[in-house]
Amino acid sequence: MMSDPAHPSSNLPEKPWSGRLEAQTNALVETFTASVGFDQRLYRHDIQASLAHARMLARQGILTEAECKAIIQGLERIQARIESGDFAWSIALEDVHMNIESALTAEIGEAGKKLHTGRSRNDQVATDVRLWLREEIDVIRQAIAYLQGVLLDLAEREAETILPGFTHLQVAQPITFGHHLLAWFEMLERDRARLADCRRRVNLLPLGAAALAGTTYPIDRHYTAELLGFDAPAENSLDAVSDRDFAIEFAAAASILMMHLSRFAEELILWSSAQFGFIELADSFCTGSSIMPQKKNPDVPELIRGKTGRVFGHLMALLTLMKSQPLAYNKDNQEDKEPLFDTVDTLKGSLRIFAEMMKAIRINRERMRTAAKQGFGTATDLADYLVRKGLPFREAHHAVGRAVAYGIQVGRDLAELTLAELQQFSPLIESDVFAVLTLEGSVAARDHLGGTAPNQVRAAIARARGRLAA
Ligand code: ARG
Repeated sequence: MMSDPAHPSSNLPEKPWSGRLEAQTNALVETFTASVGFDQRLYRHDIQASLAHARMLARQGILTEAECKAIIQGLERIQARIESGDFAWSIALEDVHMNIESALTAEIGEAGKKLHTGRSRNDQVATDVRLWLREEIDVIRQAIAYLQGVLLDLAEREAETILPGFTHLQVAQPITFGHHLLAWFEMLERDRARLADCRRRVNLLPLGAAALAGTTYPIDRHYTAELLGFDAPAENSLDAVSDRDFAIEFAAAASILMMHLSRFAEELILWSSAQFGFIELADSFCTGSSIMPQKKNPDVPELIRGKTGRVFGHLMALLTLMKSQPLAYNKDNQEDKEPLFDTVDTLKGSLRIFAEMMKAIRINRERMRTAAKQGFGTATDLADYLVRKGLPFREAHHAVGRAVAYGIQVGRDLAELTLAELQQFSPLIESDVFAVLTLEGSVAARDHLGGTAPNQVRAAIARARGRLAA
C-alpha cells in the first residue's frame, strides 16, 4: 500500500539523505519525485544486485562475514515479504532502492546500514534496469521464436496454396501462401537477431561507478559482474551511470518488431474482409458490433496495429529524454522506466496473442485461387515465354501489354483466351503457352533459392527450422 501523498513523511522512516536538508520535503515534491509507484517492479533485480554487492564487499574485507550473512538473510526475508504482499511501499522513501534498504535496516539493524558502502543509487538503478531488461529480452526472443514456429507450421500446410502476390496492392504475380508466410518469418528473424545484439550492450555492469566517479573502497567489479552474469564491468564510471543507449536500442528494436506485427495485422485485416475473403479469424479472436448484427470484427489485429503507435512513442520519449543531458546522472533518467515497462508489456502481449490467433486461423484456399486468376497475374510468365522463344524482353513486354488490354476489353484472363486470339499479339505463341499461363506453372517456374515454387518453400522451411533451433 502507498502512503497518503497529502500527509507525507512525519511518521515515516527518516529519508536516507535527510542529513543535509533541514526542512521537510514539500508534499507535492515528494509525490512528484517518487518513482516507487512504478519502479517497485524492479524489486527482484534490486535485491539480486544488492546480494552480489554485499558478497563482493565481504570478499574484499569491506564487510565482515557476519554482516554479509545478516544482509543476505535480511534481503531474502524482504523478498519473501514483497512476494506475499506483506510489504508497505512508502512514497516518502521515494524509490524501490530506498524502500528496500530502509526495510533491511529495520529488519537486521546496523548491518543494513552498511549495504550502501561503495555504491550509489545511480549505479544501482542502472544495474537493476539492465538485469531486468536482460531477462525480458530473453523472454521476448522466446516469444518471437514461438510465433515463428507457428508460421512455419502454417507455411508447411500451405506450401502449395496459391494466392495473388501484390505490388501497390494490385495483383502482380501468383505466389504460394507458404512463401508469403516465410516473408513474415524473415522479418521476425531479423527482430530476434537485433534483440540478441542489443542484449550484448545491455549485459554490462554499472556497479562500482558509484555516484559518478567510482569509490574509495577496494572493490572488485569483475567479481560482482561474474556473480550477476554480466559479460564485463562498464569501462567508464561517468558513462556507466548516465548511459541509457541500451534502453534506446531496445526501444528501437521493439519499434521495428511492432512495425512488423502491424504490417502482418494489416494484411490479416484486409484478407478477412468480405472483399478479399482469403482467411477467416476464429470467432474466439473476434468481437461483434453492438448495433450491426452481421459484424465480426478483427479487433485483435487492429489493436496490435494500434499499439504499435505507443511503442514508437516510447522510442521517441527515450531519445528525447537523453538528448540534452550533461554527464553524468540526472534525475531525468528516472523517466526511462515507464516507457521501457510499457514497451516490454506491449511486445509480450502482442506476440503471444498473435501466435495464438495464427494457430486458430482458417485459410480459404478457393478464394485465394480465384483472386489469383484475376488481374492478369501470369502476364510476366507470358513475356518470359516469348523471351525463351527469341523475342527481346522489351518487345515481349509490349506484346503482352497489348494482350492484357485485349483481355480487359473482352473480360477474360490470359489463360481464357484462345490460341488464335493470343497469336494476334505474337506469331511466336504456340499451344504450349497454356502450360505457362496456369497458376501452378507460374509458381513452379520460380524454382530457385528464395523463389515461390512449392519445393523451394519446403526447402526454405527446413532451413528456417534449423535457424530457429540454432
Ligand atoms: N529513482 C531513481 C531513478 O530511477 C534512482 C536514482 C536516484 N539517484 C539520485 N541521485 N537521485 O533514476
